[in-house]
Amino acid sequence: MPADVAEVRPASRLRGALRLPGDKSVSHRALILAALASGSSHISGAGDGADVRSTAAIVRALGATVERLEPDGPTVAYHVTSPGANGLAAPVAALDCGNSGTSLRLIAGTLAGLPLTATLDGDESLRRRPVARIIGPLRAMGASLSARDHDTLPPLLVTGRTPLDAIDYATPVPSAQVKSAILLAGTRANGRTTVREAVATRDHTERMLRARGIAVASEIGRDGGATVTVDGGQTIQAIDERVPGDVSAAAFWLVAGAIHRDAELTIEGVGVNPTRRAVIDLLRRMGADIDERSLTGDDDGIGEPLADLTVRSSGLHGIDLSPVDVAAAIDEIPILCLAAALADGPTTIRGAGELRHKESDRIAGIVAGLLALGAHVDIDGDDLRIVGNAALTGAATDSLDDHRLAMTFAIAGLVASGRTTIERPGSASISYPGFFDDLERVRA
Ligand code: S3P
Repeated sequence: MPADVAEVRPASRLRGALRLPGDKSVSHRALILAALASGSSHISGAGDGADVRSTAAIVRALGATVERLEPDGPTVAYHVTSPGANGLAAPVAALDCGNSGTSLRLIAGTLAGLPLTATLDGDESLRRRPVARIIGPLRAMGASLSARDHDTLPPLLVTGRTPLDAIDYATPVPSAQVKSAILLAGTRANGRTTVREAVATRDHTERMLRARGIAVASEIGRDGGATVTVDGGQTIQAIDERVPGDVSAAAFWLVAGAIHRDAELTIEGVGVNPTRRAVIDLLRRMGADIDERSLTGDDDGIGEPLADLTVRSSGLHGIDLSPVDVAAAIDEIPILCLAAALADGPTTIRGAGELRHKESDRIAGIVAGLLALGAHVDIDGDDLRIVGNAALTGAATDSLDDHRLAMTFAIAGLVASGRTTIERPGSASISYPGFFDDLERVRA
């Protein structure tokens, strides 16, 4: 079998305790904020996937000293010493975001407020990710940006300006990356920058800015929308931070445990930020038996709440996911589709169009994989209907070089009869380098 195909056979039982890589979203932000703060920041528990490494390399290329310490299990620590935003330097070469959309959008927002020019580029997949969504607001703030194909696709050239103009901006798509790019630029603007979201997205940037001394106000409306404001001219302080376990990685084990007929898995130290935990609550709505033991008690709204999670074999049933649910669980939709395929009754997922613009076209990828495995899925525009009650049969699946699809099909292989193969499984290391080792461990 070629090395870029993985094979997964059904497991007779799943048991064990898992420690996860550090949250990818928080790890990126910790590195970027460390570069913007003058002095030393120690980041422990960071994710060690290729995406976070891309951000670490970019921060280094901008003139910060970034020391990557020995891995501690699935996590790594970084020690960053920076001259601060005003001391960062123009990079000599294009900044390589690799596969990482978060690096692309958040670094663009960072560069917008710095008096230098840099190009952001990445791999073949990244070159298909939309950038008009950040060019619009960052140009309105006074930065100069241009990109390939009429300013729609990377490479993205950014010439920043200090100070920027503050803006009041309503995002056209729910995107924490877009919101974060504008907020990072907003810290370098004259006056108050406001971002309005029709659907509230993950709020790590807001929490992490606050933890570094920046006043950020946010308000969640009754309709599920959010308004976030930041005043420019505040100085980001260097701090030490511990990154929580990645709930998006936990999602694979939560689903594995729930769909397998003899399973009990404990996942330790998972970040359960209210804007990230939707996958836990959606699985519970489907009937999943998930115990949650808080490790942080009542959160003060600045730090990231943590919990240990235990999942046991469950009888799942289909549910309706609204566009708000989709935005809240945007990275977990592929693995939730697998849970839905095995649930009793249909699941509808409405307003999933953004999934076409991720590391792959995830709608095409998940539908092809589930059909190959014997599940039934209908697509109607941006809506999916997963029929449920499938008896999965091992089959050849393709990750499309997308980490979340690779891990979804591997989990399917644990419950499908016979042999499931996954093409290009190495993409799992974008967010979860130890995933296949953990898979072997929990089935042992
Ligand atoms: C992320 C936001 C999401 C998510 C991505 C990480 C972030 O993207 O899909 O994996 O760290 O802000 P969008 O906000 O563009 O949907």
